[in-house]
Amino acid sequence: MTGLHEEQAALVKKSFIRILPHRDAFSKSLYDRLFTVAPEARSLFTSDIERQREKLVATLAFVVNGASDLDKLSGEVRALGRRHKDYGVEFGHYAILRNVLVDTLAEYLGDDFTPDVQAAWASLYDELAEAMTNPDNPSR
Ligand code: HEM
Repeated sequence: MTGLHEEQAALVKKSFIRILPHRDAFSKSLYDRLFTVAPEARSLFTSDIERQREKLVATLAFVVNGASDLDKLSGEVRALGRRHKDYGVEFGHYAILRNVLVDTLAEYLGDDFTPDVQAAWASLYDELAEAMTNPDNPSR
């Protein structure tokens, strides 16, 4: 993990601040999409899904906030990735969630979801997913 350039980090932060007032509807839409595209993933979620939605938004906030220096978060992110393996999450799920996240951001940001904003979110997600799926690689 390294981090996003300042410009990209700023775009991600600015757009996430616009999502926060709608965090509940946003996270509901995201999981609805996920379970539509990947219905088999639903059974991996055994805890209360509303709490899970809050946890995901909180983690996104944590990562967005540290976007320009992700190395600082790498210990936590790698541990999160290891837990995901234990939950039964597979490599391919990360690509599915990537599309789901982009579509949900597009829904909530509308015209503000410019190609630059999309590229910034994609970079952030890719760094995150890479560190989560290669948790034992010290260079992540
Ligand atoms: C960048 C991507 C992701 C982030 C930031 C993220 C975040 C989280 C967080 C914060 C939790 C709470 C539990 C914990 O901290 O261990 C969690 C649990 C979980 N996540 Fe993720 N996740 C990501 C990707 C995925 C993907 C791709 C899947 C597969 C569809 C997935 C499925 C799950 C499941 C099954 C749980 C356990 C839920 C339960 O206990 O019922 N996650 N995730």
